[in-house]
Amino acid sequence: MTERRFVLAIDQGTTSTRAIVFDHAGREVASGQAEHRQIFPQPGWVEHDPLEIWTNTVQVVAIALTRARITHLQLAAIGITNQRETTVVWDVRTGQPVTNAVVWQDTRTAELCRELGGEAGADRWKSTTGLPLATYFAGPKVRWILDNIEGAREDAEAGHLRMGTIDSWLIWNLTGGPNGGAHLTDVTNASRTLLMDLRTLEWDDAIVSELGIPTSMFPEIRPSVGTFGEVSSTGLLTGVPIAGVLGDQQAATFGQACFSPGMAKNTYGTGCFLLTNTGTEVVESKAGLVSTVAYQLDGESAAYALEGSIAVAGSLVQWLRDNLGLIGSAPEVEELAASVDDNGGAYIVPAFSGLFAPYWRDDARGVIAGLTRYVTKAHLARAALEASAYQTRDVVEAMQSDAGTAITELRVDGGMTANSLLMQFQADQLGIDVIRPTLIETTALGAAFAAGIAVGFWSGIEDVTANWTEDARWTPTTDRAEADRLHRDWAKAVERTLGWVD
Ligand code: G3P
Repeated sequence: MTERRFVLAIDQGTTSTRAIVFDHAGREVASGQAEHRQIFPQPGWVEHDPLEIWTNTVQVVAIALTRARITHLQLAAIGITNQRETTVVWDVRTGQPVTNAVVWQDTRTAELCRELGGEAGADRWKSTTGLPLATYFAGPKVRWILDNIEGAREDAEAGHLRMGTIDSWLIWNLTGGPNGGAHLTDVTNASRTLLMDLRTLEWDDAIVSELGIPTSMFPEIRPSVGTFGEVSSTGLLTGVPIAGVLGDQQAATFGQACFSPGMAKNTYGTGCFLLTNTGTEVVESKAGLVSTVAYQLDGESAAYALEGSIAVAGSLVQWLRDNLGLIGSAPEVEELAASVDDNGGAYIVPAFSGLFAPYWRDDARGVIAGLTRYVTKAHLARAALEASAYQTRDVVEAMQSDAGTAITELRVDGGMTANSLLMQFQADQLGIDVIRPTLIETTALGAAFAAGIAVGFWSGIEDVTANWTEDARWTPTTDRAEADRLHRDWAKAVERTLGWVD
């Protein structure tokens, strides 16, 4: 019999889909990656084509297996991790989505969220769900689809439609697709819908009925580390169990081995997401953070986290490249930024989707502030990088006021951590050490570990901790007064973004 010596992680992100094969030592053996289209039908709207995402998933899995020179017979399990909140509604009779996926960055539900909040305001369902009523989350996106796509409401009420975040869409397709796949999600993804009770880990009947979403549309919620069925729809992976499912930020938290209360990680991707483990109790934020499920092992209590979600980080660098043509490729931003000593007084607040944590203002829009004739494109490149560090500081300060204890060091991952200038600036802004692990593919690694633990390929979370090693550390070097002065100017620029949309 062939030995099952590998685990496959599928990482379906905001801009691309990746498949990575890991061996038992937690090393990356091979990977495949494909980008999908970002569809912007009007200002503030962001969509993805779910069929393109599914096709890309199959394609990148094939590439990863070929490059690893293995077949599915050597895979012990599959872990799935995904961009969270992005919402798909599909018809079980055809397997076709009724419309494009509404992406987490999309702001079309702003009015709906205000209506749902009513007099209670944005925090109406916060104590139950951990989340403010904001355009970011999935539930109102489903309601928008039912209200606005012709025939959707009737078909939903007749029991023909299913809804899900991207994990559910992939599981359904992998386990049978149009022929009747499993309709499942995990607790971390469900905790991003505004529809799940954080403590019972079940759909909240009162919220669901107020949103007017038929219960037949809902996936079953499962622990993140456990069984989600076997692949049956694509010969590539037939019979391999899907055994770990986590939203991508929770997967990164898992892969960074943040298993004890107080341990924090920040992932610098399209956006920036800082999660601090709060243990088995839900900590309610008073400072604009969200409470969320960090992970749940089958048969155990869930672990929770406080999260500071920042909508725009790396995507600001892409915007400099694609929309302004300021740089030719994303890595060039570091060289350009390093050609000047400071930001020249310029600040960019990238409130492209309004501002998320800790502000939650969908009426904010981006600004470039502090411009003079002195400012060059190098200063703007620097301001773009600094924006991620200031936003992270805003979130860390909120985290400290909520948790009442100081974060003493920050584990980091994601593409932008290759940028030493940014990481040093981050350490200077926070006044604490910033640490990058050797394996920076923490999101995919976390999903792989979750799946591997579920099937006994690894013995438990202690294997993740044992696997984690430090690669680089940035220690604060500037004086606090200067770091604080820059942050005060940043705060002034943030003020100028608020209330832009009436
Ligand atoms: O909540 C959104 C987040 O999950 C997206 O992450 O890495 O795909 O930008 P990423």
